[in-house]
Amino acid sequence: MTITKKIVFTLSLALSIAFHALPAQTVPRWQEVYPGIWKNSVGKPEKISLLGAAAIQPAREALAKLPKAIFPLEKAEISTKVIGGKTYLRFPLDEGEQVFGLGLNFQSVNQRGRIMNLHVDHYGGQDNGRTHAPVPFYVSSKGYGVLVDAARYITVYAGTATRVDTKHPPILQDRNTDKNWTAQPYSDAVEMLVPAEGATLYVFGGPTPMHAVQRYNLMNGGGYLPPKWGLGFTQRVPTLYSQEDILKEVQQFEEHQFPLTFIGVEPGWHSMSYPCTFEWDKTRFPNPKDFLQKLADKGISANLWLNPYVSPKASLYSKIKPFTGSHTVWNGIVPDFTMPQARQLFKEHFMRHHLDMGVGGYKIDEVDGFDTWVWPDVATFPSGTDAEQMRQTYGLMVQQMTAEWFKEINKRTYGLVRASNAGASNLPYVIYNDYYSHRDFITALVNSSFIGVLWTPEVRASSSPEEWVRRMQSVCFSPMAMINAWADGTKPWTFPEVEKAVSDVANLRMQLLPYLYSTFAQYRFEGKPPFRAMNLVEGFGFKLEPEAGKLNTTDNPYAMSLRKDINDQYMMGDYLLVAPMFAGEKSREVYLPQGKWYDFYTGKEIGENQVITITPSLDKIPLFVKDGGIIPMIPVRNQVPKAETTLPLTVRHYGTATGSFQLYDDDGTSFDHEKGQYSFTPLSVLKGADGKLQGTMSVPAPGKPFGYAKEVTWVFMTMGN
Ligand code: GAL
Repeated sequence: MTITKKIVFTLSLALSIAFHALPAQTVPRWQEVYPGIWKNSVGKPEKISLLGAAAIQPAREALAKLPKAIFPLEKAEISTKVIGGKTYLRFPLDEGEQVFGLGLNFQSVNQRGRIMNLHVDHYGGQDNGRTHAPVPFYVSSKGYGVLVDAARYITVYAGTATRVDTKHPPILQDRNTDKNWTAQPYSDAVEMLVPAEGATLYVFGGPTPMHAVQRYNLMNGGGYLPPKWGLGFTQRVPTLYSQEDILKEVQQFEEHQFPLTFIGVEPGWHSMSYPCTFEWDKTRFPNPKDFLQKLADKGISANLWLNPYVSPKASLYSKIKPFTGSHTVWNGIVPDFTMPQARQLFKEHFMRHHLDMGVGGYKIDEVDGFDTWVWPDVATFPSGTDAEQMRQTYGLMVQQMTAEWFKEINKRTYGLVRASNAGASNLPYVIYNDYYSHRDFITALVNSSFIGVLWTPEVRASSSPEEWVRRMQSVCFSPMAMINAWADGTKPWTFPEVEKAVSDVANLRMQLLPYLYSTFAQYRFEGKPPFRAMNLVEGFGFKLEPEAGKLNTTDNPYAMSLRKDINDQYMMGDYLLVAPMFAGEKSREVYLPQGKWYDFYTGKEIGENQVITITPSLDKIPLFVKDGGIIPMIPVRNQVPKAETTLPLTVRHYGTATGSFQLYDDDGTSFDHEKGQYSFTPLSVLKGADGKLQGTMSVPAPGKPFGYAKEVTWVFMTMGN
């Protein structure tokens, strides 16, 4: 070696040692990629990623409209390292800071103090990371978010681990003498282990938790806006129902005057299922096109159940075989949807046999797991994508692929899926499962709002009329109002003693369509989840000990130290607080954020900034409206309006404050709204010269879709004028 070569070698060796020990490793480089969103590629991020599988298309214009944000963390306190083919991540936590998200959890809201292994699976009764949408995204109560984009089983220590060199060590306690000694000492960080040589990280600025969630949803393209029919009511019929049975069922809905906007066809329509053929069974469905047309004539869309595992009896089988994995699921082959060939074959088949005939959507079952029947982690796929990556992204890929087909024919869809992950905000699917705790279903609804997914607390059966009506009430205040009667054959009127209460709440959902649709438009255009955890509501920050029933609000509502999870109440849009009742309970507590709140049904004031105990009757779901709340409603109807219909609008106002509402409308079915074919029409309540409240609707934008009469009936629920 020459002297110069030696010097160069020694220098580069020294540099590389310094590089490994110092800045580039411990202080990662963060680049602001969208307003208030910073990205950092650690190590060698893999080709297969969650956001890649979801094919996100950031909503840049909407992101630019959010308030400016500064990088929300001390950069020097974030550490990222790649050691031995694994990525080690550490993000700081403050005292009192709460951590929300980290997957679709069913029992807890604040995840601080929990260890999770984020793994797509059917929920097994524990918030341990194995769930339908194990999204590696968390939102802090301090108003920022962190996403790890890696399609791996990520282990998260959400404030459970303590480093020797931590700046904020737990207090040293002596178990011999200290009664307060705890086995879980204070931890000041979220640490994560990604079993891969790298990962892409994103940090989302606030200033509030809601802003962090909005940025996350908007980076994913903005929330999905369902077609209007998706926000009505849906019944999923029993397995093996024929087209005749289904048409008879529709007739029964008409006789009971019960809303029905789409119908779900469960196993029995394929010529073979588990695995599936994706071809109509000619005995039960001799004329699918005619059957779908008959439904469409009544304003009812049809949704088909499937799992994506291809039966040897399917005409697709031999064509798709080269693009499938090493293992089968119920003897069906597993398409490798990272391969364009597999996607194309599915597309051609599904377009011809379903979409072209008028099918409105799918229920994508069994993409979550249950380890005993999906492919094992030793499975291999022809693209080289491994089984773990496939498991973490399969649900996302099927959602994304089917969504694309509907977009191509300019028809909005809205369906069901059992697995999702990061990046799903703009995908047209609602998550469901086979678990059936009513309470936990509501907690899942609360938690869905942190991670850009939608969830339905579907109703299947009940052991009493009380349980039936309580479940039906909460499902009508969720992203998808649905009975899934695949096994039980239940109908809305299964318990005649509560038939009236059940139809009242379904009718109320239909009446609230303008409110709900506008709320979903907020999801689409602003990234605000339609159903929201209380922790995302401005003004919802309380100290732990209430004084005489009153809660102490902190100066900064997000620096709260509330240790109790608010897991059984939520907001639907900006104004409506929903507090579902559960069978066996006659009363419940409701946490009211700052500002006055009013009973939805009577307009009476019920309190402000406090915990109240309510004893509601069986026939109503407790609903409360914020002061100044404006709720646009239409008359009861059983199907959603067609684009050319003009409906009378009744607008309710609650409380004494002035208020406003952006009433959204478009054709209700196509993607023309993405080309500007929509309207936002302000509804405002102001105080007149006489001190009385007055409501006005602005002139709707000319030439844009607007399906309401210009004359509005204003109802001042509290002031009565
Ligand atoms: C289950 C699914 C149910 C129903 C059933 C039909 O996997 O969760 O909702 O569709 O399959 O066999």
